[in-house]
Order: sequence, then structure tokens, then C-alpha cells
Amino acid sequence: MRNLQNDIDYVLIDEEELDDRITELARMVEADLDEDAHLLLVCVLKGGFMFLADFSRALTVPHAIDFMAVSSYGDSTSSSGVVRINLDLKQEINKYDVLIVEDIIDSGLTLDYLRRLLLERNPRSLRICTLLSKPSRHQVNVPVDYVGFEIPDEFVVGYGLDYAEMYRNLPHIAVLHPRVFG
Ligand code: IMP
Ligand code: MG
Repeated sequence: MRNLQNDIDYVLIDEEELDDRITELARMVEADLDEDAHLLLVCVLKGGFMFLADFSRALTVPHAIDFMAVSSYGDSTSSSGVVRINLDLKQEINKYDVLIVEDIIDSGLTLDYLRRLLLERNPRSLRICTLLSKPSRHQVNVPVDYVGFEIPDEFVVGYGLDYAEMYRNLPHIAVLHPRVFG
């Protein structure tokens, strides 16, 4: 079997940087919670699964976890803004302080849609935390409360993010070698 690492051009964010920043994000989120908060982390699948797992463990406050799966119609490397809900939350969110946990904001279209959808369900509060953001690619202005890293306009994989469903298991955020896109 070929080694996945051979497909990587370079590592953009290594494991230690991810770990340090996730700890910082957890402290920021905790500092913003009030005494009566009921925190619910909403993980956006599939890309958010690894970030969610580490972020949840970095939090020292009680919290519930739920999952949503969305897919946007478009090709494998860009989003169309038309979002389909493939898996919805298992619980009502009106008593919760919801924190959406996303892998990456590219055009912002997916998150913009998701944010509106969840706001219609009247959560106690709604905030957004994304591990990565590509500011130069944003098409809509989504009010994001916590950003792990701002990155340049490169297609990245690893730590939950895929290219054609592969590379999610890489422990770091990496840029693929151009030959992979062939
Ligand atoms: P947006 O709607 O354009 O903001 O894109 C949202 C989704 O596209 C993300 O949740 C990812 O699943 C995917 N995506 C955007 N950029 C990348 C990337 O660089 N690598 C892997 N997936 C990406
Ligand atoms: Mg994806």
C-alpha cells in the first residue's frame, strides 16, 4: 500500500500547533459562558469530527454534544451554497447555548445557511467556532466568534478534512502535492 504522506507537499499546521491553539480556544469559549449556560457543541460532520474530539476534551466545563451532517452541491474543491441536511440534531436546542464546531470556512456559504437554520430554532445563544478560515475566499460575511487559524487560499487536508474522502486521518493540516489533483 502507498503511504499517504507521499501525497503531501508540505505541512501547514503541525500537531503541536493544533494542540496549543485548541487549548486557547477552549479557554476563550469558557471565559464567555455565563453562570447559567448549558453548552451544546454542534459538530458539523464529517470534517469537524477530529477537531470536536480534541476541543471537547480541552473544555473543562460540562457540555453536551450533537452532530449534523451537511453537504453542499458543488465539485470536490468548491461549494455552491446550496446545502443539504444529511443528518439533523437529535435534540431541541431552545434551552442550549449552542456552539457550532466547524472545520473550515471557505466561501462561508455552508455556515451561513447552517447558522440561519439553527437560529430559527431559538437557541438560548448561538456562537460559531471554526478551526480554519480562508479570509480571501469568503463570499458572505458570517459572524464567527472563534477562529483557530487564518490560512491562505490553499486546499488543505488532514485533521478531519478530506480530498475525495481521503486524508482525514492525517494528524496535521497539510497541502497536497499538485500531482494528486492530476
Ligand atoms: P464553504 O461553504 O465554501 O465555506 O465550504 C465549506 C466546506 O467545504 C467545509 O466544511 C469543507 O468540508 C469544505 N472545504 C472548504 N475548503 C476546504 C479545504 O481546503 N479542504 C477540505 N475541505 C474544504
Ligand atoms: Mg468536506
